[in-house]
Amino acid sequence: YDYDLLVVGSANADLVIGVDRRPGAGETVLGSDLAVHPGGKGANQGVAAARLGARTALLARVGDDGHGRLLLDSMRDAGVDTGGVLVGGAPTGVALITVDPSGDNSIVVSPGANGRLVPEDVEAAASLLQASRVVSAQLEIPMETVEEVVRGLRQGTRFVLNPSPPRPLPPEVLAACDPLIVNEHEARVVLGADAGATPSEWAEALLALGPRSVVVTLGKEGALVSDASGVAHVPSVKVEAVDTTGAGDAFTAALAWRLGLGESLAEAARYATHVGALAVTREGAQASFPTASEVAAL
Ligand code: RIB
Ligand code: NA
Repeated sequence: YDYDLLVVGSANADLVIGVDRRPGAGETVLGSDLAVHPGGKGANQGVAAARLGARTALLARVGDDGHGRLLLDSMRDAGVDTGGVLVGGAPTGVALITVDPSGDNSIVVSPGANGRLVPEDVEAAASLLQASRVVSAQLEIPMETVEEVVRGLRQGTRFVLNPSPPRPLPPEVLAACDPLIVNEHEARVVLGADAGATPSEWAEALLALGPRSVVVTLGKEGALVSDASGVAHVPSVKVEAVDTTGAGDAFTAALAWRLGLGESLAEAARYATHVGALAVTREGAQASFPTASEVAAL
């Protein structure tokens, strides 16, 4: 394999404002100065993996504009192979993000060019898919594009999906996931009406939908990992939260990479919780992702 990880997904310019509290409907609040950070769940995963030392490629689409160049620069600086990043068709995706004093965020995404990453783009990138040990995706790109990725996977290539923002998943996509990675909100949407009440119930119900394995992330409580051999809890490390944006993406990328190295689901998840924890302690998404030596030091 030429790549440890191929990420197929979104790239967004994150327009971030700190707020004391979020406005309700019809309300205006004043916030901090605007910060513009490279983000997007796909680009975040790519940068996180590359910074850890994984040989990483990205299949994505950005606009022919300043935000697109910001993203390409960030990915190249981190060492991501951007040969698969297509340019043009619509403005670069944008995420409007508010961050509150506890470090929690709310996000509205305008997909822009991400919405124009179509199944034909995946077909045209067949050699990239064939060259990758692990392929990961999220849902800021069209579902048909993710379905095409699943169809194009090489025998033996591992597929990892974080269905975010969440929606119900086609059976072929579910069956390919190893693992499906969800937080509480995503678990509830993917499961629909009879989601159950506890993380272990979600993990069990999700596994019954067809994926080979499931990871339920629990924020500062760590994660539950589940496969045919059972469910295990992986604790996190305690950190001071500054900005949680992108921490889930860093977790997913780290997990995907470590699985490709041959670690068990629990081992890979333990490493990934450390990566996610470090990302929470710093501002921004991509700018906050740690190197392998920072993870080792934790
Ligand atoms: O997961 C965090 C990311 O979600 C942000 O970088 C933003 O771009 C949105 O896609
Ligand atoms: Na962060």
